[in-house]
Amino acid sequence: MLTTNVKSAADSFELINGVKIPCLGFGTWQIEGSAADLAVAEAVRAGYIHIDTAAAYGNEEFVGSGLKRSGIPREELFLTTKLWNNIRTYDEAIAACEQSLSLLGTDYIDLLLIHWPNPLKFRACWKERNTELWRAMEQLYRDGKVRAIGVSNFCERHLDALFETAEISPSVNQIRVCPGDIDEETISYCKSKGILIEGYSVLGTGRALDSALIVETAKKYGVGVAQLCIRWCLQNGFVPLARSVSPEHIMQNLDIFGFEIEPADMVALSEMVGECGVHENPDERPF
Ligand SMILES: NC(=O)c1ccc[n+]([C@@H]2O[C@H](COP(=O)([O-])OP(=O)(O)OC[C@H]3O[C@@H](n4cnc5c(N)ncnc54)[C@H](OP(=O)(O)O)[C@@H]3O)[C@@H](O)[C@H]2O)c1
Repeated sequence: MLTTNVKSAADSFELINGVKIPCLGFGTWQIEGSAADLAVAEAVRAGYIHIDTAAAYGNEEFVGSGLKRSGIPREELFLTTKLWNNIRTYDEAIAACEQSLSLLGTDYIDLLLIHWPNPLKFRACWKERNTELWRAMEQLYRDGKVRAIGVSNFCERHLDALFETAEISPSVNQIRVCPGDIDEETISYCKSKGILIEGYSVLGTGRALDSALIVETAKKYGVGVAQLCIRWCLQNGFVPLARSVSPEHIMQNLDIFGFEIEPADMVALSEMVGECGVHENPDERPF
Protein backbone atom coordinates (compact mmCIF):
# COMPACT_ATOMS: atom_id res chain seq x y z
CA MET A 1 0.00 0.00 0.00
CA LEU A 2 1.74 3.18 -1.15
CA THR A 3 1.34 6.14 1.15
CA THR A 4 2.12 8.42 -1.78
CA ASN A 5 -1.44 7.69 -2.91
CA VAL A 6 -2.85 9.46 0.13
CA LYS A 7 -2.40 13.21 0.32
CA SER A 8 -5.00 14.22 2.91
CA ALA A 9 -7.22 12.78 5.63
CA ALA A 10 -10.02 12.65 3.04
CA ASP A 11 -8.10 10.13 0.91
CA SER A 12 -8.91 6.48 1.42
CA PHE A 13 -7.69 2.92 1.45
CA GLU A 14 -9.95 0.23 0.06
CA LEU A 15 -11.19 -2.57 2.28
CA ILE A 16 -11.45 -6.16 1.07
CA ASN A 17 -15.21 -5.68 0.44
CA GLY A 18 -14.60 -2.57 -1.69
CA VAL A 19 -15.66 -0.03 0.95
CA LYS A 20 -13.37 3.01 1.13
CA ILE A 21 -11.91 3.85 4.55
CA PRO A 22 -10.39 7.31 5.12
CA CYS A 23 -6.66 6.90 5.74
CA LEU A 24 -6.53 8.70 9.11
CA GLY A 25 -8.95 8.30 12.01
CA PHE A 26 -9.81 10.37 15.08
CA GLY A 27 -9.83 8.33 18.31
CA THR A 28 -12.23 9.02 21.18
CA TRP A 29 -11.16 6.63 23.96
CA GLN A 30 -11.08 8.34 27.38
CA ILE A 31 -12.93 11.41 26.09
CA GLU A 32 -16.03 11.56 28.21
CA GLY A 33 -19.38 13.34 28.14
CA SER A 34 -19.64 16.72 26.46
CA ALA A 35 -15.85 16.76 25.95
CA ALA A 36 -16.42 14.04 23.33
CA ASP A 37 -19.04 16.17 21.59
CA LEU A 38 -16.66 19.15 21.55
CA ALA A 39 -13.62 17.16 20.40
CA VAL A 40 -15.48 15.32 17.64
CA ALA A 41 -17.12 18.48 16.29
CA GLU A 42 -13.72 20.21 16.37
CA ALA A 43 -11.99 17.27 14.66
CA VAL A 44 -14.57 17.00 11.88
CA ARG A 45 -14.52 20.74 11.24
CA ALA A 46 -10.72 20.57 11.10
CA GLY A 47 -10.84 17.88 8.40
CA TYR A 48 -11.15 14.42 10.00
CA ILE A 49 -13.91 12.41 8.34
CA HIS A 50 -13.15 9.12 10.11
CA ILE A 51 -14.13 8.77 13.77
CA ASP A 52 -13.44 5.78 16.02
CA THR A 53 -15.53 5.03 19.09
CA ALA A 54 -16.75 1.96 20.99
CA ALA A 55 -19.64 0.99 23.24
CA ALA A 56 -17.06 0.50 26.00
CA TYR A 57 -15.96 4.16 25.77
CA GLY A 58 -19.40 5.21 27.04
CA ASN A 59 -19.40 8.24 24.74
CA GLU A 60 -21.37 7.17 21.65
CA GLU A 61 -24.19 9.62 22.41
CA PHE A 62 -21.71 12.52 22.60
CA VAL A 63 -19.78 11.37 19.54
CA GLY A 64 -23.11 11.33 17.68
CA SER A 65 -24.06 14.84 18.83
CA GLY A 66 -20.58 16.14 17.94
CA LEU A 67 -20.91 14.70 14.45
CA LYS A 68 -24.32 16.33 14.01
CA ARG A 69 -23.06 19.68 15.28
CA SER A 70 -20.13 19.59 12.85
CA GLY A 71 -22.64 20.14 10.05
CA ILE A 72 -20.90 17.62 7.78
CA PRO A 73 -23.41 15.28 6.07
CA ARG A 74 -23.47 11.74 7.48
CA GLU A 75 -22.61 10.16 4.12
CA GLU A 76 -19.30 12.09 4.03
CA LEU A 77 -18.25 10.59 7.37
CA PHE A 78 -16.82 7.18 8.28
CA LEU A 79 -17.90 5.97 11.71
CA THR A 80 -16.53 2.96 13.59
CA THR A 81 -17.86 1.43 16.77
CA LYS A 82 -17.20 -1.84 18.60
CA LEU A 83 -19.02 -4.59 20.47
CA TRP A 84 -17.71 -4.88 24.01
CA ASN A 85 -16.90 -8.01 26.03
CA ASN A 86 -20.35 -8.42 27.61
CA ILE A 87 -21.83 -9.04 24.14
CA ARG A 88 -21.23 -12.64 23.08
CA THR A 89 -24.48 -14.08 21.67
CA TYR A 90 -26.27 -13.54 18.37
CA ASP A 91 -29.21 -11.69 19.93
CA GLU A 92 -26.99 -9.56 22.16
CA ALA A 93 -24.96 -8.47 19.13
CA ILE A 94 -28.05 -7.45 17.15
CA ALA A 95 -29.38 -5.53 20.17
CA ALA A 96 -25.99 -3.91 20.88
CA CYS A 97 -25.75 -2.69 17.30
CA GLU A 98 -29.26 -1.19 17.56
CA GLN A 99 -28.22 0.50 20.80
CA SER A 100 -25.09 1.98 19.19
CA LEU A 101 -27.11 3.18 16.19
CA SER A 102 -29.57 4.86 18.49
CA LEU A 103 -26.90 6.50 20.69
CA LEU A 104 -24.88 7.65 17.68
CA GLY A 105 -28.05 8.99 16.02
CA THR A 106 -27.46 7.26 12.72
CA ASP A 107 -29.10 4.47 10.74
CA TYR A 108 -25.86 2.75 9.71
CA ILE A 109 -22.34 2.18 11.01
CA ASP A 110 -19.45 2.16 8.56
CA LEU A 111 -17.33 -0.33 10.46
CA LEU A 112 -18.37 -2.57 13.35
CA LEU A 113 -15.62 -4.41 15.23
CA ILE A 114 -15.40 -7.13 17.86
CA HIS A 115 -13.43 -5.12 20.42
CA TRP A 116 -11.67 -8.01 22.13
CA PRO A 117 -11.14 -11.66 21.09
CA ASN A 118 -11.10 -13.34 24.45
CA PRO A 119 -12.97 -11.70 27.35
CA LEU A 120 -12.16 -13.04 30.81
CA LYS A 121 -15.74 -14.24 31.36
CA PHE A 122 -15.69 -16.37 28.19
CA ARG A 123 -12.11 -17.59 28.33
CA ALA A 124 -13.16 -21.25 28.26
CA CYS A 125 -15.38 -20.80 25.17
CA TRP A 126 -14.04 -17.74 23.29
CA LYS A 127 -13.94 -19.57 19.99
CA GLU A 128 -17.62 -20.60 20.03
CA ARG A 129 -18.69 -17.16 21.31
CA ASN A 130 -16.79 -15.35 18.53
CA THR A 131 -18.30 -17.70 15.94
CA GLU A 132 -21.81 -16.75 17.09
CA LEU A 133 -20.96 -13.06 17.35
CA TRP A 134 -19.55 -13.07 13.83
CA ARG A 135 -22.69 -14.73 12.45
CA ALA A 136 -24.71 -11.83 13.88
CA MET A 137 -22.30 -9.29 12.44
CA GLU A 138 -22.58 -10.94 9.02
CA GLN A 139 -26.37 -10.58 9.30
CA LEU A 140 -26.03 -6.89 10.26
CA TYR A 141 -23.79 -6.46 7.20
CA ARG A 142 -26.29 -8.20 4.92
CA ASP A 143 -29.10 -6.08 6.39
CA GLY A 144 -27.20 -2.89 5.57
CA LYS A 145 -26.87 -1.80 9.20
CA VAL A 146 -23.08 -1.88 8.88
CA ARG A 147 -20.97 -1.33 5.77
CA ALA A 148 -18.00 -3.40 6.91
CA ILE A 149 -17.18 -5.76 9.77
CA GLY A 150 -13.89 -6.48 11.46
CA VAL A 151 -12.06 -7.25 14.65
CA SER A 152 -9.73 -5.64 17.14
CA ASN A 153 -6.86 -7.04 19.21
CA PHE A 154 -7.08 -10.37 17.34
CA CYS A 155 -3.96 -12.52 16.86
CA GLU A 156 -3.48 -15.18 14.21
CA ARG A 157 -5.03 -17.90 16.41
CA HIS A 158 -8.22 -15.87 16.93
CA LEU A 159 -8.54 -15.08 13.24
CA ASP A 160 -7.84 -18.67 12.21
CA ALA A 161 -10.67 -19.81 14.50
CA LEU A 162 -13.01 -17.19 13.03
CA PHE A 163 -12.16 -18.23 9.47
CA GLU A 164 -13.33 -21.81 10.20
CA THR A 165 -16.96 -20.67 9.88
CA ALA A 166 -16.89 -17.07 8.59
CA GLU A 167 -18.75 -16.47 5.33
CA ILE A 168 -17.52 -12.87 5.20
CA SER A 169 -13.89 -12.05 5.87
CA PRO A 170 -13.03 -9.43 8.48
CA SER A 171 -12.05 -6.22 6.67
CA VAL A 172 -9.97 -4.74 9.48
CA ASN A 173 -7.93 -5.70 12.53
CA GLN A 174 -7.48 -2.72 14.86
CA ILE A 175 -4.39 -3.33 17.00
CA ARG A 176 -1.86 -1.41 19.07
CA VAL A 177 0.88 -0.02 16.81
CA CYS A 178 3.45 2.56 17.84
CA PRO A 179 7.21 3.05 17.48
CA GLY A 180 8.85 0.05 19.15
CA ASP A 181 5.61 -1.94 19.21
CA ILE A 182 4.81 -3.51 15.89
CA ASP A 183 3.37 -7.03 16.04
CA GLU A 184 4.93 -8.46 12.87
CA GLU A 185 3.32 -11.89 13.23
CA THR A 186 -0.24 -10.53 13.38
CA ILE A 187 0.46 -7.90 10.74
CA SER A 188 1.92 -10.31 8.18
CA TYR A 189 -0.94 -12.76 8.77
CA CYS A 190 -3.49 -9.98 8.22
CA LYS A 191 -1.71 -8.83 5.07
CA SER A 192 -1.85 -12.39 3.70
CA LYS A 193 -5.64 -12.38 4.20
CA GLY A 194 -6.24 -8.87 2.83
CA ILE A 195 -7.19 -7.54 6.28
CA LEU A 196 -6.30 -3.86 6.74
CA ILE A 197 -4.47 -2.90 9.94
CA GLU A 198 -5.70 0.09 11.89
CA GLY A 199 -3.08 1.29 14.37
CA TYR A 200 -4.27 2.49 17.76
CA SER A 201 -2.24 4.26 20.45
CA VAL A 202 0.25 5.37 17.78
CA LEU A 203 1.48 7.95 20.31
CA GLY A 204 1.79 5.19 22.91
CA THR A 205 -1.18 6.88 24.64
CA GLY A 206 1.13 9.92 24.99
CA ARG A 207 4.35 8.11 26.02
CA ALA A 208 6.01 8.79 22.63
CA LEU A 209 6.22 12.47 23.60
CA ASP A 210 9.00 11.66 26.09
CA SER A 211 11.12 9.42 23.88
CA ALA A 212 14.54 10.92 23.04
CA LEU A 213 14.82 9.01 19.75
CA ILE A 214 11.37 10.09 18.60
CA VAL A 215 11.94 13.71 19.68
CA GLU A 216 15.29 13.81 17.78
CA THR A 217 13.81 12.21 14.67
CA ALA A 218 10.86 14.59 14.71
CA LYS A 219 13.29 17.55 14.87
CA LYS A 220 15.12 16.22 11.82
CA TYR A 221 11.89 16.46 9.78
CA GLY A 222 10.84 19.75 11.39
CA VAL A 223 7.60 18.22 12.74
CA GLY A 224 6.14 17.40 16.15
CA VAL A 225 6.46 14.00 17.83
CA ALA A 226 2.79 13.20 17.27
CA GLN A 227 3.04 14.04 13.58
CA LEU A 228 6.08 11.78 13.24
CA CYS A 229 4.35 8.81 14.93
CA ILE A 230 1.15 9.19 12.91
CA ARG A 231 3.15 9.51 9.68
CA TRP A 232 5.26 6.46 10.62
CA CYS A 233 2.08 4.42 11.10
CA LEU A 234 0.63 5.58 7.78
CA GLN A 235 3.89 4.90 5.91
CA ASN A 236 3.75 1.33 7.22
CA GLY A 237 0.49 0.99 5.28
CA PHE A 238 -1.78 1.15 8.35
CA VAL A 239 -4.63 3.51 9.17
CA PRO A 240 -3.49 5.54 12.21
CA LEU A 241 -6.00 6.52 14.89
CA ALA A 242 -4.97 9.53 16.95
CA ARG A 243 -6.80 11.11 19.86
CA SER A 244 -6.69 14.66 21.18
CA VAL A 245 -8.97 17.10 22.96
CA SER A 246 -6.75 20.06 22.10
CA PRO A 247 -7.80 22.07 19.02
CA GLU A 248 -4.13 22.83 18.35
CA HIS A 249 -3.13 19.15 18.49
CA ILE A 250 -6.14 18.12 16.41
CA MET A 251 -4.94 20.44 13.62
CA GLN A 252 -1.32 19.38 14.00
CA ASN A 253 -2.18 15.67 13.77
CA LEU A 254 -3.86 16.22 10.40
CA ASP A 255 -0.75 17.88 9.00
CA ILE A 256 1.19 14.69 8.21
CA PHE A 257 1.04 14.58 4.42
CA GLY A 258 3.82 17.05 3.62
CA PHE A 259 6.86 14.98 4.59
CA GLU A 260 8.20 11.46 4.02
CA ILE A 261 10.17 9.52 6.66
CA GLU A 262 13.32 7.98 5.17
CA PRO A 263 13.56 4.14 5.15
CA ALA A 264 16.39 4.05 7.74
CA ASP A 265 14.34 6.17 10.17
CA MET A 266 11.26 4.01 9.55
CA VAL A 267 13.30 0.96 10.62
CA ALA A 268 14.87 2.73 13.63
CA LEU A 269 11.42 3.78 14.88
CA SER A 270 10.04 0.27 14.39
CA GLU A 271 12.97 -1.36 16.15
CA MET A 272 13.35 1.00 19.11
CA VAL A 273 12.71 -0.78 22.38
CA GLY A 274 9.66 -0.41 24.57
CA GLU A 275 9.68 3.33 25.49
CA CYS A 276 6.11 3.70 24.22
CA GLY A 277 4.96 0.48 25.90
CA VAL A 278 4.15 -2.82 24.22
CA HIS A 279 0.94 -4.66 23.42
CA GLU A 280 -0.09 -7.39 25.83
CA ASN A 281 -1.39 -10.88 25.16
CA PRO A 282 -5.18 -10.49 24.77
CA ASP A 283 -5.65 -14.01 26.16
CA GLU A 284 -4.21 -12.93 29.52
CA ARG A 285 -5.75 -9.53 30.22
CA PRO A 286 -7.90 -9.32 33.37
CA PHE A 287 -11.12 -8.20 31.59
N1 LIG B 1 -9.36 -1.22 19.91
C1 LIG B 1 -8.78 -0.97 21.07
O1 LIG B 1 -8.65 -1.85 21.95
C2 LIG B 1 -8.21 0.40 21.31
C3 LIG B 1 -7.38 0.63 22.41
C4 LIG B 1 -6.85 1.90 22.59
C5 LIG B 1 -7.16 2.90 21.69
N2 LIG B 1 -8.02 2.68 20.64
C6 LIG B 1 -8.40 3.76 19.69
O2 LIG B 1 -7.23 4.46 19.25
C7 LIG B 1 -7.34 5.84 19.61
C8 LIG B 1 -5.96 6.47 19.88
O3 LIG B 1 -5.24 5.80 20.91
P1 LIG B 1 -5.09 6.38 22.40
O4 LIG B 1 -6.37 6.98 22.82
O5 LIG B 1 -4.49 5.28 23.21
O6 LIG B 1 -4.06 7.56 22.39
P2 LIG B 1 -2.93 8.20 21.47
O7 LIG B 1 -3.59 8.78 20.27
O8 LIG B 1 -1.80 7.24 21.33
O9 LIG B 1 -2.44 9.38 22.45
C9 LIG B 1 -3.33 10.33 22.97
C10 LIG B 1 -2.54 11.26 23.89
O10 LIG B 1 -1.58 11.99 23.12
C11 LIG B 1 -1.76 13.39 23.30
N3 LIG B 1 -1.58 14.08 22.00
C12 LIG B 1 -2.28 13.89 20.88
N4 LIG B 1 -1.82 14.68 19.89
C13 LIG B 1 -0.80 15.39 20.41
C14 LIG B 1 0.06 16.38 19.89
N5 LIG B 1 -0.03 16.78 18.61
N6 LIG B 1 0.99 16.91 20.71
C15 LIG B 1 1.09 16.50 21.99
N7 LIG B 1 0.30 15.56 22.54
C16 LIG B 1 -0.64 15.00 21.76
C17 LIG B 1 -3.19 13.55 23.78
O11 LIG B 1 -3.29 14.70 24.61
P3 LIG B 1 -4.21 15.97 24.18
O12 LIG B 1 -5.62 15.47 24.24
O13 LIG B 1 -3.88 16.98 25.22
O14 LIG B 1 -3.80 16.37 22.82
C18 LIG B 1 -3.41 12.27 24.57
O15 LIG B 1 -2.96 12.42 25.89
C19 LIG B 1 -8.28 5.78 20.82
O16 LIG B 1 -8.78 7.04 21.18
C20 LIG B 1 -9.30 4.79 20.35
O17 LIG B 1 -10.21 5.37 19.45
C21 LIG B 1 -8.51 1.43 20.44
